[in-house]
Amino acid sequence: MASVLVLYATHEGQTAKVAERLSSTLDELGHDVAVRDLSQTTDVAVGEYDAVLVGSPVNNRKHLPEVVAFVEENREAIAALPNAFFQLSLASLWGEREANRFVANLTEETGWQPDRVGLFAGAVAYTQYDLPTRLLFKLVSAVTTGDTDTSRDYEYTDWEGVETFAREFAAFLAEASEARTAEAAGRNRTWVAVALVLLVGGLAAAYWFAFRRLARESAW
Ligand SMILES: Cc1cc2nc3c(=O)[nH]c(=O)nc-3n(C[C@H](O)[C@H](O)[C@H](O)COP(=O)(O)O)c2cc1C
Repeated sequence: MASVLVLYATHEGQTAKVAERLSSTLDELGHDVAVRDLSQTTDVAVGEYDAVLVGSPVNNRKHLPEVVAFVEENREAIAALPNAFFQLSLASLWGEREANRFVANLTEETGWQPDRVGLFAGAVAYTQYDLPTRLLFKLVSAVTTGDTDTSRDYEYTDWEGVETFAREFAAFLAEASEARTAEAAGRNRTWVAVALVLLVGGLAAAYWFAFRRLARESAW
């Protein structure tokens, strides 16, 4: 069982829902999961966990600033653990190429190259938008999804895909910790070998000195 940190920020709540689903799936697999909203707190000690997942929606072609700032400030601590980035966007509705571009921008901006990346379609939350945003999304939806009823929201997230991503991350985490255990065992074996060489060398030297002394004394 590993302790896993899930960090995210959200505007309309869809990324929070995905963070919760990742958390519950990892929890079912026996992991101890902590979920933190970076809009509420950035006082998070990444190094206290065994693994970390960071998530953000795309908003005006960028990830939310609190996520980018957190990644910038904690890049080394995040990269030291098995890690993943998950992204929500509408670009994911049209394929991975455009959605992946936002992740590439994040890597360029922060220097963080996530071990695993999850790209998920988000939602159109008409009921939460102000009037200009609602009208803009209605216009865009009219020529794309056709989902123009502004009295309701539309959710495009593939929940099975989210659960699969969590399971694959758990498998990756297991592999990473096995590799770490093997590495530690290898280091231990090296230390035992060094200790044995020193011991044998020490004994040989002591024997040699004792033998020389005995030979000198008997010559007298
Ligand atoms: C103001 C606004 C701007 C957005 N800009 C983009 C964008 O540039 N690219 C994109 O693919 N999705 C864009 N989206 C869609 C969001 O990524 C999507 O709605 C996501 O589910 C929002 O997640 P949240 O509910 O966690 O905030 C935008 C949404 C809003 C409301």
